[in-house]
Amino acid sequence: MSGPRWVPTIDDAKVRDGACVPVYPKGVGVLLVRVDGKLHAVANKCVHMACPLEGGKLEGATLTCPCHDWRFDVRSGEFLDAPELRIATFATKVEDGKVLVELKGA
Ligand code: FES
Repeated sequence: MSGPRWVPTIDDAKVRDGACVPVYPKGVGVLLVRVDGKLHAVANKCVHMACPLEGGKLEGATLTCPCHDWRFDVRSGEFLDAPELRIATFATKVEDGKVLVELKGA
């Protein structure tokens, strides 16, 4: 039976405020982003043409894709110009100093 599963990634201390850090829990490309001290996790793949978002520019909670400048809110995953499009978001929690990412059905 499958269900949500918490997968450990990297040390929480390695995700500095304003940083985007790629991780690969169970091979899934996830980008950890810290904004104003709060950790967010989004898919490391743009919904436009699947560019990795890890090289994008982060300003506040807005992440701009390095390929064609689509902008996303990392808190919700929404594409700012058309919120019905969004990148996947993942729940996170910290245990024993490690960031755990929830993979649904993993
Ligand atoms: S692939 Fe991200 S904007 Fe085109």
